[in-house]
Amino acid sequence: MAATKSIYRVSIARSCCARPASLSSSIRPLYQSRFQTTVSPDIVNKLDETTARMSSANTGPVSDLIKHDHAELKEFYENVLRASDEDAKVRWQNQFTWELARHSIGEELVVYPAMENYMGEEGKRLADKDRAEHNEVKELLYKFQGLYPSDTDFEPTLKSLWNTLSQHIEEEETEDLPKLEDALRDYDPDYSAHLAKSFGRTKKFVPTRSHPAAPDKPPFETVVGLMTAPLDRLGDIFRRFPKD
Ligand SMILES: [Fe+2]
Ligand SMILES: [Fe+2]
Repeated sequence: MAATKSIYRVSIARSCCARPASLSSSIRPLYQSRFQTTVSPDIVNKLDETTARMSSANTGPVSDLIKHDHAELKEFYENVLRASDEDAKVRWQNQFTWELARHSIGEELVVYPAMENYMGEEGKRLADKDRAEHNEVKELLYKFQGLYPSDTDFEPTLKSLWNTLSQHIEEEETEDLPKLEDALRDYDPDYSAHLAKSFGRTKKFVPTRSHPAAPDKPPFETVVGLMTAPLDRLGDIFRRFPKD
């Protein structure tokens, strides 16, 4: 147990031999071979502290948590580019990939349904747009997570991903979230904080590492497994977390 607390293993699927020539051909090999790497305890501890702080800050609106994630993603993205050696690049690549996967799933499970439920037709339109943008990002993420820093398309893929993602983030922060907060305030002044708690629970999707509040076994071994799981199955697991 001590080992699982100090280091968590991130199992990233990679194709060792056949490098993806296109997205459609890259996804299948990702399921077939894997290698494992580790994320440093320092990063894990820092994340735990941040997550605990954000989860316990139950009075804030859900927008604050989402913006916090966005800022972290930008930091992780820059760290991938800035890292001076291959090992560090892989560690930040893993960190960025997991964080983006968990953030996306949290929005799809908690935030977009709230937009649909409380913002009427406009909420449905914005949620559809956001889901479509997520799909674009996920496709690039599938490709990116299978690349090595030494691959010629490593940085171009990451930059292309970030270009799409940063536009999406901008739209969420300037349009979607302010409108959602207005609608939630009209419905119930405390409801955004309630959604923040729900969204914060998605941060407990830390595969292959035990968490006192998480199911006994990690629900998914790889980012691909996590991101391609049916949303209703994710929702079932999600509901198993305590209502803190
Ligand atoms: Fe999003
Ligand atoms: Fe977002």
